[in-house]
Amino acid sequence: MILVTGGAGYIGSNLALRLLELGHNIVIFDNLSTGHIEIINKLKNLDLKGKIVDFIKGDLKNLQEIESALSKYKFEAIFHFAAFSIVSESAKNPSIYWENNFLGTKNLLDAMKKFNINKIVFSSTAATYGEPNYVPIDENHPQRPINAYGNTKLALEFLMDDYSKAYGIRSARLRYFNVIGADKFQRTGEWHETETHLVPNILKSLNTKGKTFNIFGNTYNTKDGTCVRDYIVMDDLINAHIKALEYLNNGGKTDFFNLGTKEGNSVLEVIQTAEEVTGQKISYEIKEKREGDPAILIADNKKAKEILNWQPEKTLKEGIESAYNWEKANFYK
Ligand code: UFG
Repeated sequence: MILVTGGAGYIGSNLALRLLELGHNIVIFDNLSTGHIEIINKLKNLDLKGKIVDFIKGDLKNLQEIESALSKYKFEAIFHFAAFSIVSESAKNPSIYWENNFLGTKNLLDAMKKFNINKIVFSSTAATYGEPNYVPIDENHPQRPINAYGNTKLALEFLMDDYSKAYGIRSARLRYFNVIGADKFQRTGEWHETETHLVPNILKSLNTKGKTFNIFGNTYNTKDGTCVRDYIVMDDLINAHIKALEYLNNGGKTDFFNLGTKEGNSVLEVIQTAEEVTGQKISYEIKEKREGDPAILIADNKKAKEILNWQPEKTLKEGIESAYNWEKANFYK
């Protein structure tokens, strides 16, 4: 049995789906603050090899709630996605980020210690690196976050090191770059009440008459002046999580891995690819730079390739295609 925290959210639900396809029985623990019960219900009704044995509406900030969940089943490992992840929101309201992300995860690890669960795959982020000194960014690049979101995730990386040394809880910390795309059969995908991310915002602008898409800044020191990011497609990201579990199952030590493609694309290139995919013209306006946006983030992914035996396979176009199909199926009027 595997526990997925945040399994009602964007990445957690995609991982849950894959575990079910692979025949794992899982329990989902989620407070539904940003996740959606509809997604859990959809996954429950699919005829897959594994089953969602239980959905527990619980909050990691409450130690009793996670202890009670861990006491009910014998878990072999935990995938931990439950967190707040909007950089701008974290800058305005760090208190809720520290409480939700840091305290919540500390409670989870304390509960793991109590119930002798010793493997965790954790969603870390490229935001722990801050403004890069060089690209592609490898795992030895200094970690100096420039926002509260990155700070909470970096603090948790330290916490996990300490819990690994003292209590033997081994962790694979996966530092995501920019995740895009949805399940190929549109069983789950990106669904945020307030959408801040590039690809869904581009696609949503096509569905809202007269709406223009905003580009935040075109005077960065990049190939065309717009920010460059490393867009990793959901399927590839999920493959890496499965490999990370295998790694821990095979006795792998506590470690951290970048998850990205080593390719950078500018905002304008993403728009152009979205135009190819949708066959529609995307109109945009250039706005002020968004606070806290580094000019370029690109991952060096050698470590994940070598140690996890993982390889990203999907292209930016394929990622946008799957996101487009998901948007059309769920949000287009
Ligand atoms: N952008 C726009 N217009 C929009 C949305 C985004 O121009 O409407 C631009 C941003 O300025 C940025 C790029 O598109 O240059 C990507 O922005 P996203 O909001 O999609 O992603 P971020 O790079 O800001 O952040 C994402 C995750 C973070 C994570 C980070 C790590 O949301 O949680 O990747 O790289 F920390």
